[in-house]
This record gives sequence, C-alpha cells and structure tokens, in this order.
Amino acid sequence: MKVTVVGTGYVGLVTGACLADMGNHVMCLDVDARKIEILNSGGIPIHEPGLDEVVRRNAAAGRLQFTTDIPAAVSHGTIQFIAVGTPPDEDGSADLQYVLAAARNIGRLATDYKLVVDKSTVPVGTADKVKAAIADELARRGLDLAFSVASNPEFLKEGAAVEDFMRPDRIVVGAEDERAVNLMRALYAPFQRTRDKLVVMDLRSAELTKYAANAMLATRISFMNELALLAEKMGADIELVRQGIGSDPRIGYHFLYAGAGYGGSCFPKDVKALIRTAADQGQGLKVLQAVEDANDAQKRVLVDKVVARFGADLNGKRFAIWGLAFKPQTDDMREATSRVVIAELLARGATVSVYDPVAMDEARRIFGDEPRIAYASGPMQAAAGAEALLIVTEWKEFRSPDFEGLKAALKTPVIFDGRNLYEPALVREFGLDYEAIGRPAAVKPAA
Ligand SMILES: NC(=O)c1ccc[n+]([C@@H]2O[C@H](COP(=O)([O-])OP(=O)(O)OC[C@H]3O[C@@H](n4cnc5c(N)ncnc54)[C@H](O)[C@@H]3O)[C@@H](O)[C@H]2O)c1
Repeated sequence: MKVTVVGTGYVGLVTGACLADMGNHVMCLDVDARKIEILNSGGIPIHEPGLDEVVRRNAAAGRLQFTTDIPAAVSHGTIQFIAVGTPPDEDGSADLQYVLAAARNIGRLATDYKLVVDKSTVPVGTADKVKAAIADELARRGLDLAFSVASNPEFLKEGAAVEDFMRPDRIVVGAEDERAVNLMRALYAPFQRTRDKLVVMDLRSAELTKYAANAMLATRISFMNELALLAEKMGADIELVRQGIGSDPRIGYHFLYAGAGYGGSCFPKDVKALIRTAADQGQGLKVLQAVEDANDAQKRVLVDKVVARFGADLNGKRFAIWGLAFKPQTDDMREATSRVVIAELLARGATVSVYDPVAMDEARRIFGDEPRIAYASGPMQAAAGAEALLIVTEWKEFRSPDFEGLKAALKTPVIFDGRNLYEPALVREFGLDYEAIGRPAAVKPAA
C-alpha cells in the first residue's frame, strides 16, 4: 500500500518505518527541514532503540522516503496518517493547529480518494473538525472528491516503540465507513497474525479511548505516590505494599511504582487535555484533577527532601543529578521531573552536575549555556565533589553503582533516590544515607 505519514517525530517515524518494514511504500513528511535532512543523510533525529536499523533497512530498499514536499506527500499515499504534535494550549486543551494544518493540506491538494487517519492524540470531536477542514478545502476547489476520516490512536511507549508497534496488544480503529475499516484491516493484517487485534468502534469512542488509557495509567502512578508519602510518615514500606497489592490479578503490577512523578510528552498533557474537555462539557473530573495535582507536588518531593536535610538556602552547594530523560531508553525530556528538580535547586542558590546516558544533547538544547549546570562525562564524574546525589531517571546503568566509590566521591554521603532503585539496607551498609520514596529507614522486612 502507499502510505503517507505527516509528522516525523517519535510516533510518525516509528509508524512510517514499521509500516515500510511490512512492504508498504511509505513517505514521511515533516515541516522541520533539519529532521528530514538528518533522515535523508542516514541519521536518526531521536533516540529510540532498534529504530535506526528499521529505518536504514527500509530506506535502502526504497520503501521509506523522507520529504518536506507537501504536494508530493499528499499525492503519494492513499492512506494519510496525521502524526503531528498536539501540545497543550494555554488552557490545557490540546492545540489542534498542526493537525488541522495537515488536514487542510490534504484537502487543498488531493486529487484522488484519501483515507485520512488521526494518529495524534486528539480530543473527542477532532475527527469531525478534520473532516470539515478537508471538505472546506475541497469545496473551495469546487471538487467533489471521496475521502474518509479514521481515528487510530497510538499506544506505543517511547523506549520500546518499535517493539510496541510491531507487536501491539490492540489496534483501536474508529471509523464510520466500510472502506476505511477495510483499508485499516488490510494495512494492519501483518501485525496481528496470531489473533485479531483490531478493535473497531466509532470515531468519538476511539478518540476517548486513548485519553482513558493514559488517564488510568497516570492515576495508578499518582495513587501509589500519595500512598508512598503516607507510608513514609507511618513507617511502612511502599515497595512491600506494591508487591502485596500487585499480586492481586485484579490489580496487577504495571504502573504501580512510586517515584518522583511522571513526565513525558503524553501523560501530563493528556491528563490536562481530558480535564479541559470535560470542563468544556460542564463536567468536573475530580479524580483526574487530583491525579494531576498529586503529580505536580510529587515532582518536587526530592527537592523537599534536600531542603529538609540541607535547609532552604542551598547557596554554594552543588548537587549531582543522575538521569535527565523523563524515563529510561529515551532522550525525551518533555515535562521530565529532572527539569523541575534542576529549576528548584537553582532557585535555591545551588548548582548541579548532571549526567544522562543519552539525553545530554537534549539537556544542552533545553538549558542552553546556563553556567550553573555542569555536564559530566559519567555518573561518577557528576558525583565527584558534589554535596549529595539525586537519582531522577531509572537508567539500568545506575542500578548497581560502586557504592564505596560514591561514598568517597560525595561531600555528604547521601543519596536521594527518586526511583527506588536500591535495597535501603544494602546502601546503608556502605555508610551512605539513603532517602528513597516511601521507604522509611525504620522498616525491617520480617525474617
Ligand atoms: N511520543 C509518544 O510516546 C506518543 C505516544 C502515543 C501518542 N503520541 C501522540 O502522537 C502525537 C505526536 O507525538 P510525537 O511525540 O511523535 O511528537 P513530535 O513532536 O516528536 O513529532 C511531531 C512532528 O510533527 C511535525 N509537524 C508539525 N506540524 C506539521 C505539519 N503541518 N506537517 C508535517 N509535519 C508537521 C513536527 O515538526 C514534528 O517533527 C501527539 O499527539 C502525541 O500525543 C505520542
């Protein structure tokens, strides 16, 4: 099949590359000429495990092209995926300007049938807006051209995006005509050889499904984070509680880890957007508002612990930060907890030495030449001479550090662990103080 993917970011590039890998002819369009240049010269503009190989293989086979040429992209695909960004507007609602610009381009330039598929995360009712935008442009041209609009929300996780796309749990398709459903079924057939994974529904339900999924996952995290704070106060250990409840199949283990708050390009913005959508309908989403408020507070918990130990005035003190990306296996720092932690430390007069295995360039892009941020060449280099260590992202390489070396490197032997990476008793054996999330010093597991 001939497929165009509009927007060549985390979702668009993975979608395009994986569809090409199944033999489709895919053209990826982006308005960011720098991104397209990198891709056309054999590079990858983002860090995503396994993606470079799939991209290279399919580009070399001539099945995957990258362009900034809008007319060529519209003309290429019978199926036109829209995978552009939907960042939060000032009021928290999703900003649809990029989605609608892409839709208008299709209406302005199409000369044959197109199936336009919203893959971006968009509020309920957006498919109707996309339809109206295309119809409006066609009417301007006096053209009566058949087209369909479908919703196909993406559930991939950054860091495991290729695997998630290649082996999806489910493929949600919102559509209102048979032609659209048949095309989507054919396109996704190679990804569901063991069982039918297509969940077909109406457009609005598909749009809401994506928000419901992210809102539910964010809720589990905030719930555990609040319980962790309580556990600390009450001398209980949230890690033991997690295991105690996760073993219940009605609850399960996923997304039950307490930590220093969720970030990323999806949860914070999607939670906000759903709250906004509900408010527009005159309905409050009390649970979800609490999820967001709890998360905003949680991103400050590590700094609260630092202040409790070192005082509010951190002038002259340098802290080491391990982990900048919002989660491991990505260089994405959108809404990352590290950004809040660094801003709060700097605001109190501190300086920081930071290290992340892949997000250093992204951090430099975000913080510019801020003189109070030093970029270390490794975790131990970041810790050397620092007042204390804060762990913000759970990268594998932080899981088993040289605790003796750390104790010698830090001025004050204390680790503030925002991701509960270690057994408290083990760390303390090395003479280090260890402050994690919801894991008080006093707890001793029963023998
Ligand atoms: N990143 C994720 O893990 C993830 C997962 C599921 C869903 N989503 C959703 O998918 C959408 C895209 O997310 P992303 O993380 O890939 O964003 P991104 O910012 O990485 O990529 C978006 C790309 O679209 C391009 N773009 C903007 N307007 C354009 C236009 N008119 N024509 C062509 N290109 C245009 C931008 O230049 C950018 O390269 C969002 O709605 C997001 O919520 C993201």
